[in-house]
Amino acid sequence: MYVCICNPFTDKDVKAALENPDVRNTPAQIYKCCSGGERPNCGTCLCEIKDMIVDHQSALGVQKIKEDLPASVEFQTAE
Ligand code: FES
Repeated sequence: MYVCICNPFTDKDVKAALENPDVRNTPAQIYKCCSGGERPNCGTCLCEIKDMIVDHQSALGVQKIKEDLPASVEFQTAE
């Protein structure tokens, strides 16, 4: 399933990035890894990426509060 259609990548790409120890589990870093270094265009997918990070961390037994994860602090979306 596609997560991002602006710079196309799938949920499998996000899961692989989540498992990569060289990628910090923030929406911006996951996006950068999955898109080949591109910046988000519309930013719609960042909420889904954030949810996938929370699910991944929950599966690892790490409790995170969704609100603590910024959707994007390093990117500005196109206007
Ligand atoms: S859907 Fe990912 S930036 Fe637009």
